[in-house]
Amino acid sequence: MSIVYLNGEYLDLSDAKVSVEDRGFLFADGIYEVVRYYRGHPFRLQEHLVRLAHSAEGACLSLPEAARQLPDIMQRVLADSSASGDGEVYVQCTRGVAHPRSHPFPVESEPTLLVMPVPLHAPPPEALSDGLAVITTPDLRWGRCDIKSTMLLPNVLAKQHARQQGAFEAVFVRDGIITEGASTNVFAVIDGCLTTHPKDRTILGGISRQVVLDLAHELHLELCERPVTLQEFFNSQEILLSSTTIEVLPVTRVDGQPIGNGRPGTATLRLYEAFQRLTASLGGDEEG
Ligand code: PDD
Repeated sequence: MSIVYLNGEYLDLSDAKVSVEDRGFLFADGIYEVVRYYRGHPFRLQEHLVRLAHSAEGACLSLPEAARQLPDIMQRVLADSSASGDGEVYVQCTRGVAHPRSHPFPVESEPTLLVMPVPLHAPPPEALSDGLAVITTPDLRWGRCDIKSTMLLPNVLAKQHARQQGAFEAVFVRDGIITEGASTNVFAVIDGCLTTHPKDRTILGGISRQVVLDLAHELHLELCERPVTLQEFFNSQEILLSSTTIEVLPVTRVDGQPIGNGRPGTATLRLYEAFQRLTASLGGDEEG
Protein backbone atom coordinates (compact mmCIF):
# COMPACT_ATOMS: atom_id res chain seq x y z
CA MET A 1 0.00 0.00 0.00
CA SER A 2 1.35 3.42 -0.95
CA ILE A 3 0.44 6.78 0.55
CA VAL A 4 0.68 9.75 -1.77
CA TYR A 5 0.45 13.48 -1.11
CA LEU A 6 -1.99 15.33 -3.37
CA ASN A 7 -2.82 19.02 -2.88
CA GLY A 8 -2.54 19.03 0.91
CA GLU A 9 -3.89 15.55 1.61
CA TYR A 10 -2.21 12.22 2.30
CA LEU A 11 -4.23 9.53 0.50
CA ASP A 12 -4.04 5.88 -0.44
CA LEU A 13 -2.68 5.68 -3.98
CA SER A 14 -6.00 4.28 -5.22
CA ASP A 15 -7.92 7.25 -3.74
CA ALA A 16 -5.66 9.95 -5.21
CA LYS A 17 -7.56 11.42 -8.17
CA VAL A 18 -6.89 14.40 -10.45
CA SER A 19 -9.52 16.07 -12.64
CA VAL A 20 -9.55 15.31 -16.37
CA GLU A 21 -9.34 19.09 -16.77
CA ASP A 22 -5.96 19.24 -15.06
CA ARG A 23 -3.58 20.93 -17.48
CA GLY A 24 -1.01 18.27 -16.71
CA PHE A 25 -3.40 15.71 -18.22
CA LEU A 26 -4.60 17.85 -21.16
CA PHE A 27 -1.39 19.69 -22.14
CA ALA A 28 1.48 17.97 -20.26
CA ASP A 29 1.67 21.44 -18.69
CA GLY A 30 3.79 20.41 -15.74
CA ILE A 31 7.23 19.68 -14.33
CA TYR A 32 8.65 16.92 -12.15
CA GLU A 33 11.57 15.56 -10.15
CA VAL A 34 12.70 12.10 -9.07
CA VAL A 35 14.74 11.87 -5.85
CA ARG A 36 16.53 8.77 -4.61
CA TYR A 37 16.52 7.73 -0.95
CA TYR A 38 19.08 5.40 0.61
CA ARG A 39 18.16 3.98 4.03
CA GLY A 40 15.80 6.90 4.56
CA HIS A 41 18.34 9.55 3.49
CA PRO A 42 17.64 11.65 0.40
CA PHE A 43 20.50 11.89 -2.08
CA ARG A 44 21.27 15.44 -3.33
CA LEU A 45 17.81 16.70 -2.26
CA GLN A 46 18.85 20.35 -2.31
CA GLU A 47 20.09 20.05 -5.89
CA HIS A 48 16.78 18.47 -6.95
CA LEU A 49 14.81 21.29 -5.28
CA VAL A 50 16.95 23.90 -7.01
CA ARG A 51 16.32 22.18 -10.35
CA LEU A 52 12.57 22.03 -9.61
CA ALA A 53 12.63 25.80 -9.05
CA HIS A 54 14.57 26.22 -12.31
CA SER A 55 11.99 24.12 -14.18
CA ALA A 56 9.14 26.11 -12.58
CA GLU A 57 10.73 29.36 -13.67
CA GLY A 58 11.29 28.07 -17.21
CA ALA A 59 7.66 26.92 -17.37
CA CYS A 60 6.36 30.23 -15.86
CA LEU A 61 4.71 28.11 -13.19
CA SER A 62 4.35 29.25 -9.56
CA LEU A 63 5.01 26.40 -7.17
CA PRO A 64 2.35 26.26 -4.42
CA GLU A 65 3.15 27.34 -0.85
CA ALA A 66 3.24 23.67 0.16
CA ALA A 67 6.36 23.20 -1.97
CA ARG A 68 8.29 24.76 0.93
CA GLN A 69 7.43 21.64 2.95
CA LEU A 70 8.58 19.25 0.21
CA PRO A 71 11.44 17.69 2.21
CA ASP A 72 8.99 16.69 5.01
CA ILE A 73 6.25 15.60 2.61
CA MET A 74 8.70 13.49 0.62
CA GLN A 75 10.14 11.90 3.75
CA ARG A 76 6.65 10.96 4.90
CA VAL A 77 5.51 9.29 1.67
CA LEU A 78 8.83 7.44 1.50
CA ALA A 79 8.51 6.21 5.10
CA ASP A 80 4.96 4.96 4.45
CA SER A 81 6.00 2.96 1.39
CA SER A 82 9.43 1.58 2.21
CA ALA A 83 10.40 -0.12 5.46
CA SER A 84 14.08 -0.09 4.47
CA GLY A 85 13.99 3.59 3.46
CA ASP A 86 15.34 2.69 0.00
CA GLY A 87 13.36 3.97 -2.95
CA GLU A 88 12.47 6.93 -5.08
CA VAL A 89 10.05 9.78 -4.55
CA TYR A 90 8.36 11.41 -7.55
CA VAL A 91 7.26 15.05 -7.35
CA GLN A 92 5.03 16.59 -10.01
CA CYS A 93 3.59 20.07 -10.22
CA THR A 94 1.15 21.13 -12.96
CA ARG A 95 -0.57 24.41 -13.77
CA GLY A 96 -3.69 22.92 -12.24
CA VAL A 97 -7.32 22.48 -13.22
CA ALA A 98 -8.88 24.98 -15.62
CA HIS A 99 -12.19 25.16 -17.47
CA PRO A 100 -12.78 25.27 -20.40
CA ARG A 101 -9.78 23.70 -22.16
CA SER A 102 -7.79 26.57 -23.64
CA HIS A 103 -4.09 26.93 -24.39
CA PRO A 104 -3.18 30.24 -22.66
CA PHE A 105 -2.55 30.27 -18.91
CA PRO A 106 -5.84 30.28 -16.99
CA VAL A 107 -6.64 33.50 -15.14
CA GLU A 108 -7.17 31.56 -11.94
CA SER A 109 -5.88 28.10 -11.22
CA GLU A 110 -4.24 26.44 -8.26
CA PRO A 111 -1.21 24.35 -9.19
CA THR A 112 -1.57 20.62 -8.62
CA LEU A 113 1.16 19.15 -6.42
CA LEU A 114 1.66 15.40 -6.28
CA VAL A 115 4.31 13.57 -4.24
CA MET A 116 4.35 9.81 -4.78
CA PRO A 117 6.72 6.98 -3.85
CA VAL A 118 7.99 4.93 -6.80
CA PRO A 119 9.41 1.45 -6.22
CA LEU A 120 12.93 1.05 -7.55
CA HIS A 121 13.08 -0.77 -10.86
CA ALA A 122 16.57 -2.21 -10.74
CA PRO A 123 18.63 -2.39 -13.94
CA PRO A 124 19.26 -5.88 -15.40
CA PRO A 125 21.60 -7.88 -13.12
CA GLU A 126 24.23 -8.32 -15.86
CA ALA A 127 24.34 -4.55 -16.47
CA LEU A 128 27.51 -4.09 -14.43
CA SER A 129 29.35 -7.25 -15.44
CA ASP A 130 28.58 -7.14 -19.16
CA GLY A 131 27.59 -3.52 -19.76
CA LEU A 132 24.43 -2.26 -21.40
CA ALA A 133 23.40 -2.01 -25.02
CA VAL A 134 22.10 1.33 -26.32
CA ILE A 135 20.79 2.53 -29.65
CA THR A 136 21.16 5.98 -31.17
CA THR A 137 18.09 7.85 -32.35
CA PRO A 138 17.32 11.36 -33.66
CA ASP A 139 16.67 13.91 -30.90
CA LEU A 140 13.18 15.13 -31.78
CA ARG A 141 12.69 17.11 -28.56
CA TRP A 142 12.17 20.83 -28.07
CA GLY A 143 14.72 23.55 -27.33
CA ARG A 144 14.36 23.60 -23.50
CA CYS A 145 15.49 20.13 -22.45
CA ASP A 146 16.96 21.76 -19.30
CA ILE A 147 13.36 22.02 -18.01
CA LYS A 148 12.30 18.74 -16.44
CA SER A 149 8.91 18.74 -18.14
CA THR A 150 6.31 15.98 -17.98
CA MET A 151 6.05 16.36 -21.77
CA LEU A 152 7.96 13.13 -22.39
CA LEU A 153 6.44 11.66 -25.57
CA PRO A 154 9.72 11.81 -27.57
CA ASN A 155 11.55 10.20 -24.64
CA VAL A 156 8.89 7.51 -24.26
CA LEU A 157 8.93 6.69 -27.99
CA ALA A 158 12.74 6.55 -28.03
CA LYS A 159 12.90 4.33 -24.94
CA GLN A 160 10.30 1.96 -26.33
CA HIS A 161 12.18 1.79 -29.63
CA ALA A 162 15.33 0.87 -27.68
CA ARG A 163 13.56 -1.85 -25.72
CA GLN A 164 12.12 -3.31 -28.94
CA GLN A 165 15.69 -3.52 -30.26
CA GLY A 166 16.80 -5.32 -27.07
CA ALA A 167 18.66 -2.21 -25.84
CA PHE A 168 18.45 -0.57 -22.43
CA GLU A 169 18.57 3.06 -23.48
CA ALA A 170 18.10 5.31 -26.51
CA VAL A 171 20.81 7.93 -26.92
CA PHE A 172 19.68 11.12 -28.65
CA VAL A 173 21.64 12.61 -31.57
CA ARG A 174 21.00 16.23 -32.56
CA ASP A 175 22.82 17.66 -35.59
CA GLY A 176 25.37 14.84 -35.41
CA ILE A 177 26.05 15.48 -31.68
CA ILE A 178 25.28 13.13 -28.79
CA THR A 179 23.06 15.00 -26.34
CA GLU A 180 21.81 12.57 -23.68
CA GLY A 181 19.75 9.44 -23.15
CA ALA A 182 15.94 9.24 -23.02
CA SER A 183 16.20 9.28 -19.20
CA THR A 184 19.96 9.41 -18.55
CA ASN A 185 23.03 11.55 -19.16
CA VAL A 186 25.78 10.10 -21.31
CA PHE A 187 29.58 10.13 -20.90
CA ALA A 188 32.26 8.79 -23.24
CA VAL A 189 35.99 8.30 -22.65
CA ILE A 190 37.69 9.79 -25.72
CA ASP A 191 41.50 9.94 -25.94
CA GLY A 192 41.60 9.21 -22.22
CA CYS A 193 39.29 12.09 -21.37
CA LEU A 194 35.90 11.58 -19.71
CA THR A 195 33.71 13.66 -21.99
CA THR A 196 30.09 14.75 -21.70
CA HIS A 197 27.82 17.31 -23.35
CA PRO A 198 28.04 20.76 -21.69
CA LYS A 199 25.13 21.78 -19.48
CA ASP A 200 22.93 23.87 -21.76
CA ARG A 201 19.35 23.91 -23.02
CA THR A 202 19.78 20.76 -25.13
CA ILE A 203 20.20 18.44 -22.13
CA LEU A 204 18.80 18.01 -18.66
CA GLY A 205 21.42 19.07 -16.13
CA GLY A 206 21.42 15.69 -14.41
CA ILE A 207 22.08 15.66 -10.67
CA SER A 208 23.93 12.34 -11.09
CA ARG A 209 25.83 13.87 -14.04
CA GLN A 210 27.24 16.44 -11.62
CA VAL A 211 28.02 13.72 -9.05
CA VAL A 212 29.95 11.82 -11.75
CA LEU A 213 31.88 14.97 -12.68
CA ASP A 214 32.72 15.62 -9.00
CA LEU A 215 33.81 12.00 -8.45
CA ALA A 216 35.88 12.03 -11.63
CA HIS A 217 37.62 15.14 -10.34
CA GLU A 218 38.36 13.43 -7.00
CA LEU A 219 39.70 10.38 -8.87
CA HIS A 220 41.96 12.67 -10.93
CA LEU A 221 40.35 11.56 -14.20
CA GLU A 222 40.78 13.92 -17.10
CA LEU A 223 37.46 15.71 -17.79
CA CYS A 224 36.01 17.55 -20.78
CA GLU A 225 32.56 19.11 -21.13
CA ARG A 226 32.16 19.47 -24.88
CA PRO A 227 29.90 18.15 -27.64
CA VAL A 228 30.74 14.59 -28.78
CA THR A 229 30.07 13.63 -32.40
CA LEU A 230 28.37 10.39 -33.34
CA GLN A 231 31.62 9.17 -34.93
CA GLU A 232 33.62 9.93 -31.78
CA PHE A 233 30.95 8.13 -29.76
CA PHE A 234 31.33 4.92 -31.79
CA ASN A 235 35.13 5.14 -31.51
CA SER A 236 35.23 5.93 -27.79
CA GLN A 237 37.16 3.79 -25.31
CA GLU A 238 34.32 3.65 -22.77
CA ILE A 239 30.74 4.84 -22.47
CA LEU A 240 28.67 5.22 -19.33
CA LEU A 241 25.20 6.41 -18.38
CA SER A 242 24.15 8.26 -15.23
CA SER A 243 20.81 8.96 -13.58
CA THR A 244 19.09 9.00 -10.22
CA THR A 245 17.63 5.56 -10.92
CA ILE A 246 20.61 3.73 -12.42
CA GLU A 247 23.40 5.75 -10.70
CA VAL A 248 26.37 4.89 -13.00
CA LEU A 249 26.36 1.98 -15.45
CA PRO A 250 28.65 0.93 -18.31
CA VAL A 251 27.60 0.76 -21.96
CA THR A 252 29.41 -1.79 -24.12
CA ARG A 253 27.34 -1.83 -27.33
CA VAL A 254 26.01 1.01 -29.47
CA ASP A 255 23.68 0.10 -32.34
CA GLY A 256 25.02 -3.47 -32.05
CA GLN A 257 28.70 -2.43 -32.33
CA PRO A 258 31.11 -3.12 -29.44
CA ILE A 259 32.66 -0.13 -27.67
CA GLY A 260 36.36 -0.28 -26.76
CA ASN A 261 37.23 -3.90 -26.00
CA GLY A 262 33.55 -4.71 -25.53
CA ARG A 263 33.88 -4.90 -21.73
CA PRO A 264 32.96 -2.30 -19.06
CA GLY A 265 35.83 0.19 -18.90
CA THR A 266 38.17 0.87 -15.98
CA ALA A 267 37.23 4.55 -15.55
CA THR A 268 33.56 3.54 -15.56
CA LEU A 269 34.10 0.88 -12.91
CA ARG A 270 36.10 3.28 -10.72
CA LEU A 271 33.27 5.82 -10.99
CA TYR A 272 30.72 3.11 -10.22
CA GLU A 273 32.61 2.11 -7.07
CA ALA A 274 33.08 5.73 -5.98
CA PHE A 275 29.33 6.32 -6.45
CA GLN A 276 28.58 3.25 -4.30
CA ARG A 277 30.95 4.48 -1.57
CA LEU A 278 29.27 7.88 -1.62
CA THR A 279 25.74 6.55 -1.24
CA ALA A 280 26.88 3.99 1.37
CA SER A 281 28.19 6.87 3.50
CA LEU A 282 24.88 8.78 3.44
CA GLY A 283 23.73 9.69 6.90
CA GLY A 284 27.33 9.83 8.11
CA ASP A 285 29.62 12.66 6.98
CA GLU A 286 27.86 12.88 3.63
CA GLU A 287 24.46 14.51 4.04
CA GLY A 288 23.28 13.95 0.50
N1 PDD B 1 15.22 11.00 -15.47
N2 PDD B 1 18.27 13.22 -18.86
C1 PDD B 1 16.95 12.99 -18.90
C2 PDD B 1 16.21 13.28 -20.15
C3 PDD B 1 16.29 12.47 -17.77
O1 PDD B 1 14.97 12.25 -17.79
C4 PDD B 1 17.05 12.18 -16.59
C5 PDD B 1 16.43 11.65 -15.35
C6 PDD B 1 18.43 12.43 -16.61
C7 PDD B 1 19.30 12.18 -15.41
O2 PDD B 1 19.04 13.15 -14.43
P1 PDD B 1 19.29 12.85 -12.88
O3 PDD B 1 20.70 12.41 -12.74
O4 PDD B 1 19.02 14.15 -12.22
O5 PDD B 1 18.32 11.78 -12.48
C8 PDD B 1 19.00 12.96 -17.75
C9 PDD B 1 14.47 10.60 -14.31
C10 PDD B 1 15.22 9.73 -13.37
C11 PDD B 1 13.13 10.05 -14.77
O6 PDD B 1 12.57 10.63 -15.68
O7 PDD B 1 12.65 9.07 -14.20
